[in-house]
Amino acid sequence: MWASAVLLVLLGSFGANALDNGLARTPPMGWLAWERFRCNVNCTADPKNCVSEKLFMEMADRLVEDGYKDAGYEYVNIDDCWMAKQRDANNKLYADPERFPSGIKGLADYIHSKGLKLGIYTAYGNFTCQGYPASGMHLELDAQTFAEWGVDMLKMDGCKQMDRHTMKKGYPQMTKYLNATGRPILFSCSWPDYERGAGIPINYTLVAENCNIWRNYVDIQDSWQSVLSIIDYYAKEQDTLVPVAGPGNFNDPDMLIIGDFSLSVEQAKAQMAMWAILAAPLLMSNDLRTITPEYRDILLNKDVIAISQDNAGIMGKRVLQVDGVDVWTRDCGGYFDQEWAMTFLNRNSANKTITFALNDIGLFFFGGYGITDLWNHNADLGYRDIYAKYKYTVPKTGVLMWYFVPWWNTTSF
Ligand code: GLA
Repeated sequence: MWASAVLLVLLGSFGANALDNGLARTPPMGWLAWERFRCNVNCTADPKNCVSEKLFMEMADRLVEDGYKDAGYEYVNIDDCWMAKQRDANNKLYADPERFPSGIKGLADYIHSKGLKLGIYTAYGNFTCQGYPASGMHLELDAQTFAEWGVDMLKMDGCKQMDRHTMKKGYPQMTKYLNATGRPILFSCSWPDYERGAGIPINYTLVAENCNIWRNYVDIQDSWQSVLSIIDYYAKEQDTLVPVAGPGNFNDPDMLIIGDFSLSVEQAKAQMAMWAILAAPLLMSNDLRTITPEYRDILLNKDVIAISQDNAGIMGKRVLQVDGVDVWTRDCGGYFDQEWAMTFLNRNSANKTITFALNDIGLFFFGGYGITDLWNHNADLGYRDIYAKYKYTVPKTGVLMWYFVPWWNTTSF
């Protein structure tokens, strides 16, 4: 899969106002505060976990020292509640001075000194979802301010903008202002999710022209049910969502909750595998200071990350559902376009064996396939022809994740 994908750089083919930052050629990887740390602003009572520059600096340290940066995680992203409660005398946003004494510029300098990138959050509309000042009336000024500070990624939310019909105009305006700064700033849009919620048809062509990544669906919560319901949304909408994903543009099913309070190790592997299959951003929202090694190893699995980062950028699809096991494939290009990552996702609370032929799910390479186990250092699992019905046993509420290559090619893998 590595050498085969042709990198089509489509920059310049969009209209003058479209996104031209050249970023997110593969799904972005990093860390994002929201799911784990929420709007905890009480640094007196909870100094270790409040939204403050210290929190982001400590996460940056962990990203570098514990191997995440080397594995590809590079963005350190602030979410809601970083701002002071009002703008300054020049109408500029500024960070709460008690929680961010260095200011965002100082924090950005620290993050950059570690070889990482800084993401920040605002909203379309006058307030953020938690009631802090947002960019509604000040899109241009805020784009310039973020660029001056050295911000590398912007998430623009929008839950307080009650007229969702205005978003298809407002978000592209922000794209234009971000472009005009001359600083490459990865743009994460929440616009499609709000249109979906309001029953407004979503123009994904317009979304992809203006955003690098975008939320499609509700916020992830720290539960297995939440992970499953998000996966199901992407399966239901796959015919719409697969064509709009590709280098520079990815659907965002929200943060990884691996290492938080709810997922078992098998469930955590399932989320990681599915986010890789979905070509989703890998933005962890967890406490890297206290995460235990078995969860860290999942997040650092280089073979699974390689699927996520496959440079063809093709989002996977659900191709089979049988006895509570869902089979997903992601086209990873390669020989005759026949290299595939595959996950078997078992929803049952018991291990489950299913039986099917590869030909039933669109793998038609007549010579058959060689298979490796992505969760087990790409261990060789041997040969499958395409017509025989094979058995696959999947752990309870967990996954298998395998890589399929045309048979003669297995030794070069
Ligand atoms: C919305 C977003 C979340 C998070 C919160 C912050 O709910 O979807 O990802 O940013 O707002 O208030």
